[in-house]
Amino acid sequence: GSINIQECFDTAMQLVKTAGDLVRDAIKKKKNIETKSSAVDLVTESDKAVEKIMIDGLSNAFPDHKFIGEESVSAGEKCVFTDDPTWIIDPIDGTMNFVHSFPHTCISVGLWINKDAEVAIVYNPVLNQMFTALKGKGAFLNGEKISASGETDLSTSLIFAEVGSSRDPEKMNTVITNFTTLLPRVHGMRAMGSCTLNMCYVAMGGGDAYFEFGIHAWDTAAAYLVVKEAGGIVVDTEGGTFDLMRRRVLCASTQELAEKVAKLLKQYQPERD
Ligand code: IPD
Repeated sequence: GSINIQECFDTAMQLVKTAGDLVRDAIKKKKNIETKSSAVDLVTESDKAVEKIMIDGLSNAFPDHKFIGEESVSAGEKCVFTDDPTWIIDPIDGTMNFVHSFPHTCISVGLWINKDAEVAIVYNPVLNQMFTALKGKGAFLNGEKISASGETDLSTSLIFAEVGSSRDPEKMNTVITNFTTLLPRVHGMRAMGSCTLNMCYVAMGGGDAYFEFGIHAWDTAAAYLVVKEAGGIVVDTEGGTFDLMRRRVLCASTQELAEKVAKLLKQYQPERD
């Protein structure tokens, strides 16, 4: 049947606000931590609780919809991406930040239909930043329209990069090499610890580009639409078409800047989602 996008957005928004209350409260308390793919790839009971709120609520409202959730996949569920309406959820992006009570963390919820992004909600409940986007309708921060910076020049760019949660030597070498290459050529570099918020900050003109190898579909699924609707660019790290499952992202204020960054990057290909 036909899908009421506004109803999807409203339902998800209600749940994200409830989940946000949980995160805002839990970040002040002692965290119950487990590790996943590495000793620094963390999950807390809050990640699991938020994912449960979102999936229970959404599957109740939309019984035919599919889900890809970070913690469900970690718990052994398959990451299946089809043309069906699929909610892609990162319950807490920036879990390491959350664990350390560093208030740069968010809930990320994206709805993709026919492998295209339709709805995006990214919420940092600690700093009260609500990023939203619907396909074709612009991107917003707390209800105000946002746009990417329009920067085209590398030398005056602020670039976000992340160290990530893999301690594989080849991956770490890629990270360090890319910092070394870019740092002397740009205004500044930042590693704030949230893929999703990095992308949303590029969308709001709070930075000019961001790249990372090793992210997952749930890190980019919502922010992808926020960036696009803000007039920014999301591509593969080599500059080609972005592939949600390929675990690489390059996001920039302009196509020109994306191409300049892509050309300089040492590439790395993690195993696909
Ligand atoms: C992580 C964060 C981090 C990035 C990692 C991601 P998570 O997401 O976005 O900034 O460097 O690659 O996995 O695990 O906190 O949802």
